[in-house]
Amino acid sequence: MSEQVQMMRRDAVCEVRLNRPDKRNALTLQMYGALARALEDAERDPAVRVVLLSGAGACFTAGNDLKDFLAGPSFDDPQHPTVRFVRMLPVFSKPLVCAVHGPTVGIGVTMLLHCDLVLAAERSTRLILPFVELGLVPEAASSLLLPRLVGPQRAAELLLLGEPLDAPTAHACGLVNRVVDDEGLMDEARSVADALAAKPPEAMRRAKRLLRLDPHGEIGKRMDAEVAEFTACLAGQEFASAARAFFEKRR
Ligand code: COA
Repeated sequence: MSEQVQMMRRDAVCEVRLNRPDKRNALTLQMYGALARALEDAERDPAVRVVLLSGAGACFTAGNDLKDFLAGPSFDDPQHPTVRFVRMLPVFSKPLVCAVHGPTVGIGVTMLLHCDLVLAAERSTRLILPFVELGLVPEAASSLLLPRLVGPQRAAELLLLGEPLDAPTAHACGLVNRVVDDEGLMDEARSVADALAAKPPEAMRRAKRLLRLDPHGEIGKRMDAEVAEFTACLAGQEFASAARAFFEKRR
């Protein structure tokens, strides 16, 4: 397991921590591969009842590594590590808990739509969906799930305008279950994960399946549509100049 994605077992809880703090936990292809493997292992292991996701350092994650977007393989390949991870999210059968803090960008936010319980640090959390700003489109079925969760107008504000959302606002619109003191975030997330892990696992699995039922396969179809648009955008000038601008600002 890559050190940039750390896995720790605490009884029946598998903690998965993003650990590339110098790059704000921006997710590389290798990290997506490690995340996909972590979920596959957790799915297979009957001793794991809950997965808790979090990030080390100043934030949960700055989203996809923009250098990998510039140079990575095509998303058409189902074995693409990002695609593998994203496709696992809606079918993962055990409760997923996520603890977010700091700027949380792109996939860092869209993956929350597939989590069962989300805790956000009160002071530092900023949820940002800068897809259009970057010349890209929403992913991880967020174009379907976010309007369902927060309503189409609110979703447009978040996905088209890309303005940051703080923890209390994210809580008010249903993206986050609990707002917690920054200092107490991991303790509270562990206590929620432990409470889920203590419930009867078979009933938990069945209840989660009912809550996430997608009888017409809409999530997969929306992901297909998003991947097609995203792939076209990645080859476009709007993305190339936005990515260049991001890295030039840091020289
Ligand atoms: N891809 C690649 N590198 C990234 C990155 C990303 N998504 N996000 C941050 N980094 C790198 C920076 O280039 C910088 O590297 P350097 O130290 O070698 O210059 C380092 O991480 C720290 O980033 P910095 O911007 O200085 O940190 P910050 O705390 O001031 O700001 C963010 C944090 C998350 C607000 C800011 O980094 C950001 O906006 N990142 C881009 C987010 C993004 O557009 N993601 C894609 C979504 S689809």
